[in-house]
Amino acid sequence: MSEITLPGLVDVHTHLRVPGGEHKEDFATGTAAALAGGFTTLLAMPNTTPPLTTPQVMEEAFQQAQADTRCELGLFAGASPEQIGQLPALAPYAVGLKIYLNDTFGPLRVEDLPTLTSCFQSWPQEKIIAMHAEKQSVAIGIGLAATFNRPVHFCHISRRQEIELIDFAKRRGLPVTCEVSPHHLYLTQADAVRLGPLGDMRPLLGTQDDVDALWDHINDTIDCIATDHAPHTLEEKRAASPPPGVPGLETSLPLMLTAVQQGRLALSRLIELMSTNPRRIFNLPEQPDTRVDVDMLPYRINSNTLLTKCGWTPFDGMEVIGQVRRVQLRGEIVYEKGLSIAPPGSGQMLS
Ligand code: NCD
Ligand code: ZN
Repeated sequence: MSEITLPGLVDVHTHLRVPGGEHKEDFATGTAAALAGGFTTLLAMPNTTPPLTTPQVMEEAFQQAQADTRCELGLFAGASPEQIGQLPALAPYAVGLKIYLNDTFGPLRVEDLPTLTSCFQSWPQEKIIAMHAEKQSVAIGIGLAATFNRPVHFCHISRRQEIELIDFAKRRGLPVTCEVSPHHLYLTQADAVRLGPLGDMRPLLGTQDDVDALWDHINDTIDCIATDHAPHTLEEKRAASPPPGVPGLETSLPLMLTAVQQGRLALSRLIELMSTNPRRIFNLPEQPDTRVDVDMLPYRINSNTLLTKCGWTPFDGMEVIGQVRRVQLRGEIVYEKGLSIAPPGSGQMLS
């Protein structure tokens, strides 16, 4: 197997930093990195500055994205107690609603029950609710999914206690799904010590036991692999109080293909986790004449060749298998041999 062809991959959890963080990433650079990583559809998170919680900010971000994106792109609206009445007005520009129950980069947080209840009552039924929920917060999300009988998607699940609770919930037939990020499958607390701020993200890296539990559920409970591409500049990461988050768009596919090569994951399952399931769960359109050609040869991940504006990765120097050679999107070659060919604005917005 020296070359394989995959369908266009979907990342349901990317931070593209517009508005307010364009020095870290923007729609044009982030979607170039996406194509380099084999992704032809991205869903971008709302924890921008200001966050995507008002119709005006949401509409402006949507228009900027339309002008700049090189692949299919959808935006999440953000839930905030102050703007909760605006939710229906945000929906036309959004593929889903993101609710942050736990601390992470940026001030977006929902900490009171009335706001949570409003989200479930006023967000359109056909658009999914995604949650950043850790530890016992996962139980809150499951309870709301059951109470309101509507789907909840859990972002970047990272601990044994969480994946096992979601497994129970799914066995009870509750409408919950979840994603796991490759850094939580490949790195532990020991790597966090070695990497310092370059290994700091939310959720934090777990124990070996947490990592083992995630791999144990790769063929059942886990629905999607999502990058949680969270670029910050090296300068910011090396300053006092560095922000949490690591980039992932260009390393996620090679890391998962390395697992395929090692016999830890079937290639057909990788396609479900990175393309079929995300499309189904988030109700995203198929992309005709779209394919990702990958060379299945070993190479070392190299920060200097990345297209993300932040220009670094916690996986620098790691030997992996699977390098994207060419990406075709809706019949056009959009990426080839390290070069992003698709012009900004050639991608389509999803809503
Ligand atoms: C993310 C970011 O930088 O926006 N950081 C992170 O550590 N994952 C926020 C998030 O996804 O929680
Ligand atoms: Zn994130």
